[in-house]
Amino acid sequence: MTKQPDRIIIFDTTLRDGEQSPGVSLNVEEKLTIAKALAKLGVDVIEAGFPHASRGDFAAVQKIAEVVGTENGPVICALARATKQDIKSAGEALKPACKSRIHTFIATSDIHLQYKLKKTRKEILEIVPEMVAYAKTFTPDVEFSAEDAGRTDPEFLYQVLELAIEAGATTVNIPDTVGYTVPSEFGALIKGIKENVRNIDKAIISVHGHNDLGLAVANFLEAIKNGARQVECTINGIGERAGNAALEELVMALHVRRQYFNPYLGRPADSTEPLTNIDTKQIYKTSRLVSSLTGMVVQPNKAIVGANAFAHQSGIHQDGVLKNPLTYEIMSAESIGLTSNQIVLGKLSGRNAFRTRLQELGFELSEEELNKAFIRFKELADKKKEITDWDLEAIVSDEIQQPPELYRLELVQVSCGEPAVPTATVTVRTPEGKDVTSVAIGTGPVDAVYKAISQVVNIPSELVEYSVKSVTAGIDAMGEVTVRLRHQGKNYSGYAANTDIIVASARAYIAALNRLYAVTVGRHHNGHDNNNDKTAQHANLVTPA
Ligand code: KIV
Ligand code: ZN
Repeated sequence: MTKQPDRIIIFDTTLRDGEQSPGVSLNVEEKLTIAKALAKLGVDVIEAGFPHASRGDFAAVQKIAEVVGTENGPVICALARATKQDIKSAGEALKPACKSRIHTFIATSDIHLQYKLKKTRKEILEIVPEMVAYAKTFTPDVEFSAEDAGRTDPEFLYQVLELAIEAGATTVNIPDTVGYTVPSEFGALIKGIKENVRNIDKAIISVHGHNDLGLAVANFLEAIKNGARQVECTINGIGERAGNAALEELVMALHVRRQYFNPYLGRPADSTEPLTNIDTKQIYKTSRLVSSLTGMVVQPNKAIVGANAFAHQSGIHQDGVLKNPLTYEIMSAESIGLTSNQIVLGKLSGRNAFRTRLQELGFELSEEELNKAFIRFKELADKKKEITDWDLEAIVSDEIQQPPELYRLELVQVSCGEPAVPTATVTVRTPEGKDVTSVAIGTGPVDAVYKAISQVVNIPSELVEYSVKSVTAGIDAMGEVTVRLRHQGKNYSGYAANTDIIVASARAYIAALNRLYAVTVGRHHNGHDNNNDKTAQHANLVTPA
């Protein structure tokens, strides 16, 4: 009998299922940065990727296993279809991790069997134990998932799970792959599994779910009440189609309503013992990191981490909160690591105060990163009287999330207005150290700037997303710009923050181009000269502004 955990295990799949979000593509360095943040957040398991899917995924899983999979770190997990090649790749990529898990899956619903796998139930009952046993030859920690469990005949699901556990699966995962179930149904499915799978006490029940009907988190909470002890989720709820269950929503629901959930985990209702290992104060920062590296902007009204989640607009609410926050706040902004946006530093603040405040905010910068961030802070302090923690976070995100500076923006000037033809002049320093100036007109100032830049940086790409939002309120607020470029089916994102949104737009575009250039540079240096490549003359731009 496996000892059942007395808390909820948080299995984060931002780097695997989250990365399957349309348009998201992270490189190894970006995945490692997110994995480090997840470890700091306190997740129990990081699903780092799908090693057999691509060389990049293999490399990322291996790197995360080596750097983050330390003795006191989280379990590092890799996904594998129920085939020997997939499982072998996962086992090899995971080798450097102190604690590793292979997550193998096969579909079990009749729809998937008939149309996708073209296999019979009998074949599935043979494959599952064979592949779980094979995975066990690489690591003792094996998770088995019955894909599309939400639409699988429960009697067949029980049989599959029993065989998986008998073959050594230590966790059995119940995915609502298409986000079809409703909470009472999903809870009943977990209850049925507990009651009907003969050896279920030898494994931990896990749940995985997509948000097609907006029910993923509600389904999980019902599953927990019925015996699930692991939840698979992603930061900001990113993932395939409408996304996965959002980690921050699950964790805060269990945190804020722990008195309600305690008895389901066999605790006294008034126990103050946390129900997860998550350091909730890291939530906001991790959300921002994932948003800027993936280019997936968080909607303002998103629960927990949206810009409006703690903003009170109506006079009645503001009055109540001032009298007592409990009137309209069920949790404090501080509990997710948001400070109350007070003025923290100004023009006269020195390096030491700056360093100390960043440390208090949880940023650990190298000396070089600190120097760069301090220069940016001083520049900002000249333009903006009141510098808040949010501004500091934007500066640091901007500085530390920049890819290697291959192309560098030296100058950007625009002229626009009504009536006028928006015109931009840019000077960009090339990786060879040459300053190239270019002028272009566009439908708006940002379009003109992007056209001028793409005349210098000749890599064909399509601008698939451009978004700008302000970091704080006020006319002098910094603007954060995220852009996403597509090149040969892959996306490259760039992020920048500045009080001048034209400058932020130019820098974010250059950042994305640098990411793209870093990937394609090997090819260009291998004799495919950029200038001789006819398709590489102009970026194919959609018009941002
Ligand atoms: O949604 C799903 O079914 C999955 C499985 C691979 C667990 O992501
Ligand atoms: Zn999924």
